[in-house]
Amino acid sequence: MTGSDCPIGIFDSGVGGLTVLRAIAQRLPHESLLYFGDTARLPYGKRSQAEIIQFVREILDWMTQHRAKMVVMACNTSSALALDEVRAKYDIPILGVILPAARVAVTTGRRVGVMATMATASSRAYTRAMQEIVPDTQVWEVGCPEFVPLIEQNQINAPETRAIVKRYLDQLLEFQIDTLIYGCTHYPHLKPVVDTLLPSSVCQVDPAFYAAEAVAKELRLLSLGNTTADPTIRFGVSDRPQRFAKLARQWLSYTPTVEQIDLQASQVLPADSLPSSTSLDLSAEHFPVG
Ligand code: DGL
Repeated sequence: MTGSDCPIGIFDSGVGGLTVLRAIAQRLPHESLLYFGDTARLPYGKRSQAEIIQFVREILDWMTQHRAKMVVMACNTSSALALDEVRAKYDIPILGVILPAARVAVTTGRRVGVMATMATASSRAYTRAMQEIVPDTQVWEVGCPEFVPLIEQNQINAPETRAIVKRYLDQLLEFQIDTLIYGCTHYPHLKPVVDTLLPSSVCQVDPAFYAAEAVAKELRLLSLGNTTADPTIRFGVSDRPQRFAKLARQWLSYTPTVEQIDLQASQVLPADSLPSSTSLDLSAEHFPVG
């Protein structure tokens, strides 16, 4: 069983979910967080639905073993391809990032562009979510398979990155979009580049902020908010913890302690080989608004 002092689980294939973690940490500073990045198996965007469902199950099993009271899929690909499948199979709330963003996007425009992974774009999950709310919303989803490798390889400021981002944005701008959704949690890391290319009249929607609002609402409804323990944050990845820690530094403004997790064995490495949890520092300096 889980109690209100248990952590909120947050997962992604890599550093993308840090955009969501950061928003949740800012919105809910009293909550403990347990982050998992499936770095050994990224990018998720080119995986099949069956693979994604299998990965998500393994992550949810691990998170429930670690007493997560709620799990946030800080990954659009998982939200698009696995959320419906797994939700009923676990007895904790599981939230995705697509619906919160879709709800907002229909209030900002009627011509919505979505940059997403190939898997998310082909699922048309954003189109369905928005048209269910406002049927005459026009949606264009473009798969941007180059973005996740660029971000995970820390190439955001490389000169060729701007040209790649421009190529995908131009495809959407052709349709005179009035709203752009970052349909992959990695992509807000490219916002500084997008800002130089997108007309200011186009409204940008980052699902992270709205997902954090949805988490806050759900905790309130279920009376699951933490009122007791000191919040902590733990990071785990399936491959190369040091590399993740180094990369994460630019978005967390500190170098987190990261554990290597063997999901298949469904076990954490022996306790004496693990660093202790990192205390959650919520000062503005540590969590700058992106
Ligand atoms: N950040 C994830 C998403 O929102 C996964 C990206 C990937 O690994 O391809 O879809």
